[in-house]
Order: sequence, then structure tokens, then C-alpha cells
Amino acid sequence: MLETVTYIAQLFIGQVLNEGDIAIDATAGNGKDTVFLAEHVGETGHVYAFDIQEIALERTRRLLEEFRLHHRCTLIRSCHSKLLDHIPASLHKHIRAVMFNLGYLPGGDRSITTDVETTMAAVRSAFHLLNVGGRISIVVYPGHPAGTEESEALIHWSRRFPRDIAIAVQYRRLNSSDRSPYLILIEKRRDVPASGSEFLR
Ligand SMILES: C[S@@+](CC[C@H](N)C(=O)[O-])C[C@H]1O[C@@H](n2cnc3c(N)ncnc32)[C@H](O)[C@@H]1O
Repeated sequence: MLETVTYIAQLFIGQVLNEGDIAIDATAGNGKDTVFLAEHVGETGHVYAFDIQEIALERTRRLLEEFRLHHRCTLIRSCHSKLLDHIPASLHKHIRAVMFNLGYLPGGDRSITTDVETTMAAVRSAFHLLNVGGRISIVVYPGHPAGTEESEALIHWSRRFPRDIAIAVQYRRLNSSDRSPYLILIEKRRDVPASGSEFLR
């Protein structure tokens, strides 16, 4: 399991999720992370899951129904760069976890993929939405041109966090190609006043 970045992402996120928490799946896809989050937030928590493709949300809905977890989730067909518009203002800075799994929908249209501009807008919004101690996981696929661009922008962004504001970690397999998927893990340590957020751009 050590080599499976999606598994490590779930370990990292699962550590901080408790009954009653609010979490976001920013790339619902086939719904596996949405189900994982819904299991961990319990009956009194809630999950918001985003995808731009109806087929992905349909697969996510079916999986949630299979696990009888659909009542814990709101599925939103929208680009994740619009996170701030869709998450109720009362929940801003109360989100415990946001999961991203970039790239295309497995078993779907490979031409529909995440892109650097909207991904960067989404991760910045995700960081803004977190409470202190909240976490973001990002599975990155540098092995295709759009993924390489995303990878470079995400590494640049993650490196700039002052250490008292966030811890940013890269998890990647060393005995594998540089094109293999890897993980970026972020934990918020302190809130950022709007005036001091220049490094989030
Ligand atoms: C690798 S899949 C996610 C896999 C999913 N986490 C799972 O467990 O099955 C990536 C998903 O991101 C979606 N996506 C691409 N661009 C997006 C965007 N701008 N906003 C939200 N979702 C997007 C794709 O439609 C695709 O379903």
C-alpha cells in the first residue's frame, strides 16, 4: 500500500477527520474519496463533492447509495475554482479536509482533465476554507503535459508557505520514474489575514 498515493492521501486526511466535520472532495470522479470522507464525518458531518462532469457525479451518487451514505453528501456540478461560491459562507474557515485527485476520470473521457489555472485557484480557495489543523491532499500526475504544468505550479506554491502558517510535504516514490504520480500534503497551522496572503497567490 505504501506505493499507492491515493491510500496515503486517505491516511493523512483520515487522521484529522472526526464525527461532525465538514469535508470537500474537489474532484469526485468515481466517488471513492467522497465515500471515504462521508464514512469519516459520521452522521452529523457533511461532505461537498465537486466535479465538472455529470457522469462522474452519477457514478459518485451510485457509490454513495451503495454504501448508504448519500444523505451525508451534497454533489455539485461545478469547477472547483468556484469552491468559495458553493460552500456556505457560514462554513468558511470551518472545513476540516479537502481532497484533490487531479487528471482525468478513470474509465471516462481522457480529454477532460484538470488544468493548471483552475487547479491553482481551487487549492488557494481550499486553503482559505480550512480551519486551523485542517488538511489538503493533492494527488498529482506529472506524466502528461497538462499534469507537468500543474505539478510545477503546485510545487512552487507549496514551497512558499511560511512554516508557521502551513506545513507542506511531498510524498513520492524514489525508486520510480519522475513521471509517476505523487502527493502534496498540506496542514494549516495558523490562519492568514487577507492582507498577509500574498504568498497564496
Ligand atoms: C482522477 S479523477 C478523480 C478520482 C476520484 N477522486 C475517485 O476517487 O474516484 C479527476 C476528476 O476531476 C474532474 N475534474 C476535472 N477538472 C475539474 C474541475 N475544474 N473541477 C472539478 N472537477 C474537475 C474530472 O472530471 C475527473 O472526474
